[in-house]
Amino acid sequence: MEFIDLPPMRKAAGTVRLPGSKSISNRVLLLAALAEGDTVIEALLESDDTRVMKQAILALGVEVAAEGEALRVSGCGGRFPKLDADIFVGNSGLSIRTLVPAIVTSLSDSDNPLAAVRLAGVPRMHERPIGDLVDGLKQLGASVEWLGKEGYPPLALKPALLGAERISVRGNVSSQFLTGLLQAAPLVARNKPLVIEVEGELISRPYVEITLNLMERFGVIVQREGWSRFVVPAGQRYVSPGRIAVEGDASTASYFLAAGALGGGPVRVVGVGRRSIQGDVKFADALEAMGAQVTWGDDWIEARAPASGGLKAFDLDLNHIPDAAMTLAVAALFADGPSTLRNIGSWRVKETDRIAAMATELRKLGATVDEYPESLTVTPPPRLDSAVIDTYEDHRVAMCFSLATLGGPYVRINDPKCVDKTFPEYFATFAGIATPVPVVAIDGPSASGKGTVGSRVAAVLGFEHLDSGSLYRLVALAGLRKGIALDDEAALAEIAGALPARFEGECVMLDDADVTEAIRSEACSVGASKVAVLPAVRDALFWRQRAYRQGRGLVAEGRDIGSVIFPDAPVKIFLTASVEARAERRYKQLIDKGMAANMDDLLKDLRERDDRDSRRAVAPLKRSEDAALLDTSEMTIQQAVDFIIGKAAVLRN
Ligand code: DC
Repeated sequence: MEFIDLPPMRKAAGTVRLPGSKSISNRVLLLAALAEGDTVIEALLESDDTRVMKQAILALGVEVAAEGEALRVSGCGGRFPKLDADIFVGNSGLSIRTLVPAIVTSLSDSDNPLAAVRLAGVPRMHERPIGDLVDGLKQLGASVEWLGKEGYPPLALKPALLGAERISVRGNVSSQFLTGLLQAAPLVARNKPLVIEVEGELISRPYVEITLNLMERFGVIVQREGWSRFVVPAGQRYVSPGRIAVEGDASTASYFLAAGALGGGPVRVVGVGRRSIQGDVKFADALEAMGAQVTWGDDWIEARAPASGGLKAFDLDLNHIPDAAMTLAVAALFADGPSTLRNIGSWRVKETDRIAAMATELRKLGATVDEYPESLTVTPPPRLDSAVIDTYEDHRVAMCFSLATLGGPYVRINDPKCVDKTFPEYFATFAGIATPVPVVAIDGPSASGKGTVGSRVAAVLGFEHLDSGSLYRLVALAGLRKGIALDDEAALAEIAGALPARFEGECVMLDDADVTEAIRSEACSVGASKVAVLPAVRDALFWRQRAYRQGRGLVAEGRDIGSVIFPDAPVKIFLTASVEARAERRYKQLIDKGMAANMDDLLKDLRERDDRDSRRAVAPLKRSEDAALLDTSEMTIQQAVDFIIGKAAVLRN
């Protein structure tokens, strides 16, 4: 399984130019295809979902050509020229739900009785309902054949004469059904007006507003009576506006605005603002209700943390911003109490069952989540746990969970490529505004003085300190004390996984007993280098080491700190000394402590350990290319400390 590991973030600040709005891009592509004349579309979103729509209109015989950075669509004037096609709609709900009505209207004029357009998608698409839309089309006389399960894609559309003055459609499953019928309505209402009535409450109304707004840009006016009756007067045609620029995506903006609120900020998004036609800009109001500071420009919005105190819990009806509301579910982890997201039932029929998915994944971070048919209550834990997040082929799950890193944990996102649906550059863009908790990684051989140097560097920088070697020594000690053979991988991994160890200042505690001296014995040194070759032991200590990355930063030392545990560490040092220098230091230490020591034995031991550490198959000791070499054979401790502090100057920001 492919994944991306996002480290704990210390803060978020900066400016993000948003990619084009998915909702606008896909509506404009279809309206431009249906219009009279050419439309040049600027700032169109490049993503899986827009590729689906582009491929579909191409398959239906509409010409599309790049024009510099823009796209020229040569409209077909209301009737698709090619009506024998197989269209793949991926998992784009908006594409299938707007294409189907438009294709049906074209087919009603077809003089080829054998014409047929088949639409199919990914397996999840075949679980997303479309029956209510087809019911509306059947009232017009459309011929729709289910190719799989009734009420769901795949389906085939056949020629049939259309005619009706009034149709109705359910509004409480997806507003995309109404959008699809509205966009196709002028193509039917050529001689007589068409009335579309909405049964039940209409959800996600702002998306219907986007539809009406864009239809108007293409010359078609719809008379709206509340949200239950829409009249499309007869004789209107779609006419190209010439050029049209797509706004930034307001749903995508939610991740960055939330980052500003959760991570200090300010974070500014450019591409949506006061003048936006997208309902999801109202997400900024929800952040404000949590106490965040929000400022608006014509085409930008900026968010930062509350002026004083933390973020407040909320209880909000989020029916109008279903997509951005997922971001709020993660923001709820940072609130001062339980938050409730209400009226989000449409989540159940999106890319995945988003209510179930969010509940499951939020719990992995330690939250208590109460899941209801149409709402969710999120109670934050005192401290967020690091977690491996599953994404269910849902771009928004992947994007919103990245924000949890601003609360301290590591977050591993499985299948991060799913963000390609709407924002392929998401993780790179997030990395551009979020600053990870810094790590100074010091790797090197035994007895090179890493421990002493590392703890002094940590004290100077005010960072946490991790001597990872002591974890391996603790595993060896615990194993020896339990009489476990030091090659019993399973038993030692179990010990490593639940190591009852603590670090208290300079003291190392195991089961509440001080073992600071005991883990430094030669038996433990030899034992540690034996248990350290066992992959299961290394795996068991992996997340434990990562958990030290917190506060202002971390100085960690070991063998694979810069290569495996913290590969993104901004400062990497390979600290070494000649084997003679190391043996001499060790000799002095032992003599100072009044212990017996033999130089030849020490040299032999060190050589053997170096050999074992560097020749083992897993995480062998070796300097990685991006680590600065620090040979301390001829240096004092202070000189080594000064060298590393000099390298760490890059962290001062
Ligand atoms: O650095 P040290 O001498 O305390 O390490 C003890 C043993 O643990 C050593 O033989 C190598 C092993 N070790 C490791 O394999 N990976 C680390 N990150 C740290 C130590």
